Amino acid sequence: MTRSWNSGYVADVAYVEGFYVQQSPARMALACLTGNVAVDLPEPDDAACYLELGCGCGIGALLTAAANPNWQVTAIDYNPAHIAIGAGLARAARLDNIRFLEADLAQLAASSMADSIPAADFVSMHGLWSWVGSEVRAGIVKLLGAKTRPGALVHISYNALPAWQGAIGLQRLIFEAGRRSSGRSDLQAEAGLALAREVKEAGSKYLTESPLASELLDATAEMSREYLSHEYMSAHWAPAFHADVAAELALAKLEWAASANPLENFPELMLTPEQRAVMDRHTDPVLRELIKDMCLPRQLRHDVFGRGARRLRNVERDAALAQLIVVPVVVPSELQTKIHVPAGMAEMGEPLKTMMAAALRGPARIGDLLALAPGRSNPAELVSVLVGSHQCQLAMRLDGMQPQSADRLNRVLGARVHSLAEAKSMSGLASARLGTGLAASPLVQFVAARLLDGEREDKAAAWIELLGADIVPEKREKVRSIVHAAIEQRVPILRQLRIVPD
Ligand SMILES: C[S@@+](CC[C@H](N)C(=O)[O-])C[C@H]1O[C@@H](n2cnc3c(N)ncnc32)[C@H](O)[C@@H]1O
Repeated sequence: MTRSWNSGYVADVAYVEGFYVQQSPARMALACLTGNVAVDLPEPDDAACYLELGCGCGIGALLTAAANPNWQVTAIDYNPAHIAIGAGLARAARLDNIRFLEADLAQLAASSMADSIPAADFVSMHGLWSWVGSEVRAGIVKLLGAKTRPGALVHISYNALPAWQGAIGLQRLIFEAGRRSSGRSDLQAEAGLALAREVKEAGSKYLTESPLASELLDATAEMSREYLSHEYMSAHWAPAFHADVAAELALAKLEWAASANPLENFPELMLTPEQRAVMDRHTDPVLRELIKDMCLPRQLRHDVFGRGARRLRNVERDAALAQLIVVPVVVPSELQTKIHVPAGMAEMGEPLKTMMAAALRGPARIGDLLALAPGRSNPAELVSVLVGSHQCQLAMRLDGMQPQSADRLNRVLGARVHSLAEAKSMSGLASARLGTGLAASPLVQFVAARLLDGEREDKAAAWIELLGADIVPEKREKVRSIVHAAIEQRVPILRQLRIVPD
């Protein structure tokens, strides 16, 4: 493993390419409004600056740039392999509003390179904070202090305590065994995992009795080597309490607003009545979150912070939420009105079911959906259920066609998919309507690129042949059925979002 410039973080294996919807500006805005914090989302044609720290291969930043051609996007990572991949995709898609910067976040704020970074309206840091050491975290805080505008929104994800407590020993065993083994980090992670499995089979009390450690170890069988090496082989990995993250980010004048996972902002869905009663005796947000984290199995937190949080009264918050527009990202036949939540299975009541069904028929304003069920006046609940259950996303702009930048990036992403056997990680497609990406499997990226090139669904047989060419004959039927399911369920959504032509 290279040790010179990487300060203990994995740098010899590129991280998996992925898109995470919590990184989207509209999703950050929803969190703020839910947390009674005012936001100024840019108007459809306004300029804005988006900054991603620890961007990896930069898929989220690329989708943001392609979906918002008037914006300026800066994506920073210290791994030159990641920067080369991201910059290569930007070049191939001829995106001129994104800049990939190779820089170490520990020193960037103090270097002259920082002068060229525009102050950001939106910042995202996914999978960075709890995997890096204190010097890097201090550098991040300095950079955020210098490079966020008043009113900026910041998304940060991190491994959270106390939920991770149950598996800290598992990470340590994989890391310690791995680093004593030779070879690249992915091989080291494999060696560490092999030992952890052996210890579990030998009857380790910890690895069999800690449900989280046991589940995580079993789940590694399905995970990519790249992901596992970054997850387990970082020398400074340390899960964090929300209270500590909030205290560190306060040094950059950032104040916690709410979770970017909308359902988590609803104690009614997350906690039992007894747990809520205890939490509701407290008003301090940090203490309330700590109580929540004591009750929930929340291993990965997605927090949204605001620089200069302007507090809204409930009536102002509800008025702002009622103006939001949701667009469906599933077809009406996929409507789910029972949702798995930590407090159990939540079954929506009739008024909510009516509003949800209407939301899946096409773009809708939250206020108009609420009008379908007189007497219902909780816009935060409605929008959070629709977005948090992954049935809708928020629209950034509804008029106009997709910009050519989005079409170009979507073609580039889809053209890289040649086989279903190779394609694994979820990625995305740029959507100007969403102002971000639509989560999309490699198969859906492939189909979108073909449709953008003028092919129609009647080419499905040829697509199946191509995508299944290296798949054993017994599994070809499966390929056929997933291609047809994608055509029936995903293509209507792609058309509605104008990602592909009618
Ligand atoms: C788990 S990956 C997440 C990547 C990306 N945000 C994503 O979610 O796909 C963490 C990223 O942080 C980068 N990183 C770690 N330490 C860094 C540092 N000191 N300066 C800049 N980037 C760093 C790594 O190279 C890696 O790409």
